[in-house]
Amino acid sequence: MQLPDFRPVSHSRTTITELMIPAYANFGGKIHGGILLSLMDKVAYACAAKHAGNYCVTVTVDGVEFKQPVEVGELVSLMASVNYVGTTSLMVGIKVIAENVKTGIMKHTNTSYFTMVAKGEDNKPAKVPGLILENREDARRFLEARIRREIKTENEQYFLQQKNKYPVETALTILANERCKLAF
Ligand SMILES: CC(C)(COP(=O)(O)OP(=O)(O)OC[C@H]1O[C@@H](n2cnc3c(N)ncnc32)[C@H](O)[C@@H]1OP(=O)(O)O)[C@@H](O)C(=O)NCCC(=O)NCCS
Repeated sequence: MQLPDFRPVSHSRTTITELMIPAYANFGGKIHGGILLSLMDKVAYACAAKHAGNYCVTVTVDGVEFKQPVEVGELVSLMASVNYVGTTSLMVGIKVIAENVKTGIMKHTNTSYFTMVAKGEDNKPAKVPGLILENREDARRFLEARIRREIKTENEQYFLQQKNKYPVETALTILANERCKLAF
C-alpha cells in the first residue's frame, strides 16, 4: 500500500481501557508498575504503527513517573497520540488515567513519551508520513516534543562531560557524604 505523505494526528489517536484485576497486584495490593508499562508500550505501538503504516519498535521511554498508586478494581485508560515525527521515528505521548468506578474519581497517574521507529520489510528504519496538526493543542505538543528531544540530547552531552570531570580518586571522596561504604 502506498503511504500518504502526511497523516492527521486524529488518524492514529488511540485509547485502551483495561480493568485492573487482582492478578496485576504486587504484594502491597497495588498494581505493578510493569503492568502499566506493558499497557503503555501496547498503546504506543498501536498508535505509532497506525500512523507509520508499518511495524514499529520502541526505542526510548521518557517521563515515566507514577505519581499515585493504581488500585485493583480501577479502570485504567491510556490515551495515546503521535506528538512528533522525524524521518523514521515518531514520539507518542501517553496520558494514563485511573478511574474508581464506584466514586467516579479520576486520577492522572502519569504522562509519558515513547519514541518509536518504523521498520520496513527489510527490517531497516522506514520513512513515516509527516504529521498534520489539526489544532493549536497538536501544534503545542509538536513544539514541546522538539524541545524535549533537544534537552535530552543536551543532557546526554552534559552527563558525558561531567562523568569525567574529576580523576577517579577525587570522585571517590564525594562518596564520603553518601550512604555507601567502599569495600575495595
Ligand atoms: C531503533 C533502531 C531501529 C535504530 O537503528 P539505527 O541503525 O540507529 O537507525 P538510525 O540511526 O537510522 O535511526 C533511526 C531513527 O531512530 C532514532 N533514534 C535512534 N536512537 C535513538 C534514541 N536513543 N533516542 C531517540 N531516537 C533515536 C534516530 O534519531 C532516527 O530517527 P529519524 O529517522 O526520525 O531521524 C535500532 O536501534 C533498533 O532496532 N533497536 C531495537 C528496538 C527494539 O527492538 N525495541 C523493542 C524493545 S526490546
